[in-house]
Amino acid sequence: MNEKANDRKECLRQSIAYIREQWSEKVPKTAFICGSGWSEAIKGLKILGEIPFQKIKCLSRTTVEGHKSNLLLVETKTGYGLIFQGRRHFYEGVGWETIRNPIILSKELGCKNVVLTNAAGAIPEFLNVGDIMIIEDHINFMGGNPLIGEIPHPLIPRFPDQTEVYSKQLINLAEKIAKKKKIDLKKGIYLGLTGPAFETPAEIRGYKAIGADAVGMSTIPEAMVANALGMQVIAFSCISNKAAGISEEKLSHEEVTENTAASLPTMQSLITQLMNELN
Ligand code: HPA
Repeated sequence: MNEKANDRKECLRQSIAYIREQWSEKVPKTAFICGSGWSEAIKGLKILGEIPFQKIKCLSRTTVEGHKSNLLLVETKTGYGLIFQGRRHFYEGVGWETIRNPIILSKELGCKNVVLTNAAGAIPEFLNVGDIMIIEDHINFMGGNPLIGEIPHPLIPRFPDQTEVYSKQLINLAEKIAKKKKIDLKKGIYLGLTGPAFETPAEIRGYKAIGADAVGMSTIPEAMVANALGMQVIAFSCISNKAAGISEEKLSHEEVTENTAASLPTMQSLITQLMNELN
């Protein structure tokens, strides 16, 4: 093992030891990563502990406005959950390792399931601002891959299968919950880009032609790492805007934040129940 891999392993080891010490060995089942506007979606769960990312060696503060930087331990009906209030994005100029770490850390702490969330722009007519969309599958247009290079964890194969990155079983569970709660959950294909610039209308026309329903700047790397680690993944987009050129309006991060806030009651109801049922 080279020096860099040794440093990476040591960084994770220290982070795991610190978290276990703080939370007296409680083993979480599910990790929830909060995308733009999703931080308050876990308010229905009992928070048992909170650690700022800066205190955990292999995590770091996000630079994105509207993203907090705390790791929470919550109690669910089936056990415990980990909440990452905030995420790092490739456009922040960090490498894949920084983006992989929350997932690898969750796996090492005992999580079997990963719930990923984001805000996204909508391409087809069936998606409207305020909708919650289950990511059925993705198109990686990030121009890179978080699994390139030295294999980052012994459980990750060199050539991971990706025929079911998003667990059909978890999608069925989320749809069942939504039906009971009368939430009109949409389902579609998420296309991920690095950002930070929003797309051009011509790019969006191109992405529509290759089957994209929603566009965003995150989620895919974490989903790929979690899938490669053998974890069960589910992901949701909150539709914060129509994609560039689909409506006349110009896009801004403020619009994204404002529009996701309006969907908070739906997110909260869905996520609380999902976290309580995930086993
Ligand atoms: N494009 C890319 N990322 C996004 C968008 C968008 O329209 N909305 C929210 N995140």
